[in-house]
Amino acid sequence: MTAADSRRDRRVFGRRRGKPLSATRKALVEETLGNVAIDIPDGESDIDPGTWFDASIESIWLEVGFGKGEHLAWQAQQNPHVGIIGCEPYETGTASLLAELSARNIGNVRVFSDDAAYLLSSLKPACLKRTFILFPDPWPKKRHHKRRFINETSLGLLADALDDGAELRIATDHPGYLQWILKAMLARPEFEWLVEGPADWRTRTADWPQTRYEAKALEAGARPAYLRYRRAPRAGHIA
Ligand SMILES: C[S@@+](CC[C@H](N)C(=O)[O-])C[C@H]1O[C@@H](n2cnc3c(N)ncnc32)[C@H](O)[C@@H]1O
Repeated sequence: MTAADSRRDRRVFGRRRGKPLSATRKALVEETLGNVAIDIPDGESDIDPGTWFDASIESIWLEVGFGKGEHLAWQAQQNPHVGIIGCEPYETGTASLLAELSARNIGNVRVFSDDAAYLLSSLKPACLKRTFILFPDPWPKKRHHKRRFINETSLGLLADALDDGAELRIATDHPGYLQWILKAMLARPEFEWLVEGPADWRTRTADWPQTRYEAKALEAGARPAYLRYRRAPRAGHIA
């Protein structure tokens, strides 16, 4: 699939709905999602995501598949001058994030309840300063590998949307997906792996809190990998 195809597609393979929301959560979604929801009309492109935030916001980050949103809420609270876009098609996860945002009075988050690749394909080049893809669904069966979020198309979109020097963080606890990600990243000259030794990918940095999925994986005995990449300067860029 080319980047142009992904602009027309919204491809989400996981579930969008879980158990019905409680009456309280349902009311919270009805009252607050509209204040933070991003709507991207079909075919719209070259969008400046800065227009989705207040004027005080200095840079924009993205979290792909934020799950229940604990990492996203933490980053937003720690970095009040950053506007963070969260992409998550799973309704229950969005409801949990909204509860966190409202309880902690966090105002620098916007939510796109759909495919992150579609959002990326709609953004103007070099507009993101950081992106997190934490524990994307590993789709372990071979016939499902094509569903993996990290692939040639999404990495091309990320290479376009990330600014020179921007950071891309990826985590996985699945050994097969780790090999897949390392191979895919190695094939991209736009990304430089920030690694000097095993400690750099075996441990999280202090500004990288644990996610809910990760906590469960650790309990089950998994050893996650925490990968950090830097977007290389574009050709012709004078540092
Ligand atoms: C294994 S969960 C991890 C959630 C969270 N990052 C964590 O670590 O707890 C992967 C998440 O990615 C979301 N997801 C799947 N496909 C996606 C897509 N195309 N765009 C954005 N999110 C997606 C799923 O709904 C799911 O919540």
